[in-house]
Amino acid sequence: MLPLRKNIAEMTGYVPGFQPQEKGWTKLNTNENPHPPSPKVVAAIAAEMANGGEKLRKYPDAGSRQARAAAAELYGVDPEWVIMANGSDELLNNLIRAFAGEGEEIAYVHPSYSYYATLAEIQGAEIRTFGLTEDFRIADFPERYMGKIFFLASPNAPLGFMFDNDYIEELAGRCAGVLVVDEAYVDFADGSAMALVKKHENIVITRTFSKSYSLAGMRLGLAVARPEVIQALDKIRDHYHLDRLALVAAAAALKDQEHLELNIARIRIVRDYFSNENRLSGDPFTRQFYFCQPTGW
Ligand SMILES: Cc1ncc(COP(=O)(O)O)c(C=O)c1O
Repeated sequence: MLPLRKNIAEMTGYVPGFQPQEKGWTKLNTNENPHPPSPKVVAAIAAEMANGGEKLRKYPDAGSRQARAAAAELYGVDPEWVIMANGSDELLNNLIRAFAGEGEEIAYVHPSYSYYATLAEIQGAEIRTFGLTEDFRIADFPERYMGKIFFLASPNAPLGFMFDNDYIEELAGRCAGVLVVDEAYVDFADGSAMALVKKHENIVITRTFSKSYSLAGMRLGLAVARPEVIQALDKIRDHYHLDRLALVAAAAALKDQEHLELNIARIRIVRDYFSNENRLSGDPFTRQFYFCQPTGW
């Protein structure tokens, strides 16, 4: 018998969203973007590959400085408040490793991103879930929640609604540990909790490049939090967690907000059409929408 840790031996592991093998489908189950990324991202990657990939001989910048600086400028914070990551999944994982020891509790809203649970299981942390009330508040949330982390996907996936900032501030006040606001889908919504990071020391914001930036294949994410949290996450991550191509892609994507706006506008148009059609048909799971038409690029 291999000497696996008990929790690893017993856990089932995460099952990622179904990936059909035939070409030509736009899948909606993992929310990949059907549109291409910014041409500036593609050009930055090509430039990094110039001269027969000569630059690939060398390790990337372990501190992701250019990408951090681009994010800091975009969000109006100092670079010490930002960390880049290999997908926001890396941040969710390292937040649990940083804050929740074995047997300590983390919590999240059900339904939302079930990967929080898998990451907690790896760490041997206890998992608690909270449901939602009819008006989209957290059901039975204690006056003082003593768990180490509370993960709040806002906008919620799969339900799509967003928690307002007053409520997020109230939750931050009630959390003895860290409140992680997972803003994976925030670019498609109105508003963000980003401004609350400076007001509440226990709020951490995570973002992904996989959805609005059309870069799921590059594996990029970032977090904004106070420098003490960023320093802790920097200690935990692998030194060279982002490769050269991902780093230049991240900086170029963050700097091309015009393309991001275009990308978001296109998705919003289809989203409105989709919701209207479903409202009219009365069938929210119409198969023709679940795997919708080929995109043709
Ligand atoms: C709510 C939520 N958070 C985080 C992620 C992970 O994003 P990434 O691709 O950056 O790891 C996803 C991906 O589907 C998600 O739905």
